[in-house]
Amino acid sequence: MDLNSLAGKTAVITGGGSGLGEALARLCASSGLHAVIADIDLGRARNVAESISAGGGSALAVHTDVARRDSVYALAQICRDHFGGCDYLFNNAGIAIYKPLIETNEDDWNRSIGVNLLGIVNGISAFAPAMIKARAGSHIVNIASMAGLVPLEGFGIYVATKFALVGLSEVLAAELASSGVGVTVACPGWIATAIQPTDTDAPQPAFPSELSRIILPEVAARIILDAMLAKRLHAPTHPEWRETVAARSDVLLDAFTS
Ligand SMILES: NC(=O)c1ccc[n+]([C@@H]2O[C@H](COP(=O)([O-])OP(=O)(O)OC[C@H]3O[C@@H](n4cnc5c(N)ncnc54)[C@H](O)[C@@H]3O)[C@@H](O)[C@H]2O)c1
Repeated sequence: MDLNSLAGKTAVITGGGSGLGEALARLCASSGLHAVIADIDLGRARNVAESISAGGGSALAVHTDVARRDSVYALAQICRDHFGGCDYLFNNAGIAIYKPLIETNEDDWNRSIGVNLLGIVNGISAFAPAMIKARAGSHIVNIASMAGLVPLEGFGIYVATKFALVGLSEVLAAELASSGVGVTVACPGWIATAIQPTDTDAPQPAFPSELSRIILPEVAARIILDAMLAKRLHAPTHPEWRETVAARSDVLLDAFTS
């Protein structure tokens, strides 16, 4: 299956106003899909939608807060009204907080769990039942992170939500296996987006040089869409992280024999 075979179908991209979500929206639209750009920042979503429309693509901007269940259900209704439903759901919206765990506060946790975890749960609840019923061959793509596979110091809350998202996605894939709805969980390393800490006064994360490669959002989007088309459950975008993931797995497996 190639990208052009998706023409005429509908993709919903949460957090589609910026970064990876914007790149996913543009790639979907350039492949002939209707791109529904759902973002808490309506101005950003509109800018992306207008630019896609100006280029001849089909795009709709919708104000959505993924952390609010009613907001995501309203998004699903808008998709039904405009396009009859959703074929490809990209649960992409996410936030990152960089601070040691002992310095985190309740608000940090509530915001991160609200967007990075409950935001995905809301997307699944609002869209999956109709996808199962009427859209065989449809697909849910959850954007996790390498931080969902290996612990990264300084990103404790983010790691907690992304590990949870990887587990949730694996369960969802098993539970939907017979329904015709596929599931992919993407685990990118670094991508050049606004989520990177940019304040030079703030402490910056430091990683070994072999794990520091930053790719363009367009490159990550293409890898993720290709994984979706191939119906792969896991979509790591940075192969150089493999050894780090293996090392963590080895420590875990060794614990069973020691
Ligand atoms: N940039 C990276 O290095 C990287 C690496 C791995 C995974 N990711 C993941 O990729 C996804 C996209 O991140 P990005 O790097 O493009 O970030 P970004 O900050 O460029 O874009 C995130 C978008 O999500 C929107 N958003 C935030 N909270 C929202 C909410 N409650 N409801 C709806 N929209 C909301 C923002 O307005 C923004 O447009 C996230 O899930 C992130 O965890 C990013």
